[in-house]
Amino acid sequence: MNRHPHVHFHDLQMPASDFRQDILTGLQAEQKHIAPKYFYDAEGSRLFEQICTLPEYYLTRTEIGLLKDHGPEIAASLGQNVTLLELGSGSSVKIRLLLDALRPLLYVPVDISREHLLQSAKSLAEDFPWLTVHAICGDYAASWEWPVQALPDSRRIAYFPGSSIGNSTPRQALKLLGRIAALLGDGGGLLIGVDLIKDREILEAAYNDSQGVTARFNKNLLARLNRELHADFKLEHFQHQAFYNAVEQRIEMHLLSDREQTVHVADEIIRFRSGETIHTENSCKYSISGFRQLARQAGFEPREVWTDADKLFCIHYLQVQK
Ligand code: AVJ
Repeated sequence: MNRHPHVHFHDLQMPASDFRQDILTGLQAEQKHIAPKYFYDAEGSRLFEQICTLPEYYLTRTEIGLLKDHGPEIAASLGQNVTLLELGSGSSVKIRLLLDALRPLLYVPVDISREHLLQSAKSLAEDFPWLTVHAICGDYAASWEWPVQALPDSRRIAYFPGSSIGNSTPRQALKLLGRIAALLGDGGGLLIGVDLIKDREILEAAYNDSQGVTARFNKNLLARLNRELHADFKLEHFQHQAFYNAVEQRIEMHLLSDREQTVHVADEIIRFRSGETIHTENSCKYSISGFRQLARQAGFEPREVWTDADKLFCIHYLQVQK
């Protein structure tokens, strides 16, 4: 029997062969790289939740504070009787605050981590019995057809929390935001959390925590390739690296090979020079005005912005341009 009559599940996961090919292409490139979406297997999702509670990682608690302090005002801007899409179902604390304030008709979380998505959809359906949930497992940045055509015809609002937009470079973000605007359609709106440009010390501490959780999160990528692609990375021969690139206004995370070594990945041989890195993440930072300008170029009309007293983080509300 279905214990969760209000939960519907749509699986749009990429085939394993695409995962393999994507990883190999990245590891065979001049600057080796792996897309940050691959962090989020079950273990990676668990480690990320832990990152969100770290003292140095100010992003999550600051965004939660903004939702707590401005919930009613945010809900009033977004309007009533909406379909709420959540891009990358983040920490459940945030969405609970938003659901309480907004009371949407329908909630559509889109997330790449199957376990995380299913678990959170079920627990939300239990705690918000009035809510219908259509969970979509897939990559919100891929260009697949979203199964939203089938959803009831109400105004669409997307919530894109956590500054996940920072994983895209500004050029990529322009494209992604444009596609989100098209998906939302007439009368649609986007509530988006964005990390602000600030002193290097604060930024670098957030990605080099003293407990080493971020290092484990980064290295879990290699462990995942060992598990899923029969790779033989020795985790102790790679170091976590995270630094602020002030020119590009982003944190970069890398995995640094501390020696010359050879690794097998899915029947291919990958060679590393000593000091060579795999680029695993960009986390781009914006000023308030810089992000509003980008949003305007992507087809949104920037509306309210909420920020904390220390100007660490902000939440923008953007409406689809008429
Ligand atoms: C989920 C992309 C917003 O960039 O801060 C946290 C991921 N990486 N610590 C971020 C992350 C390392 C996070 N985002």
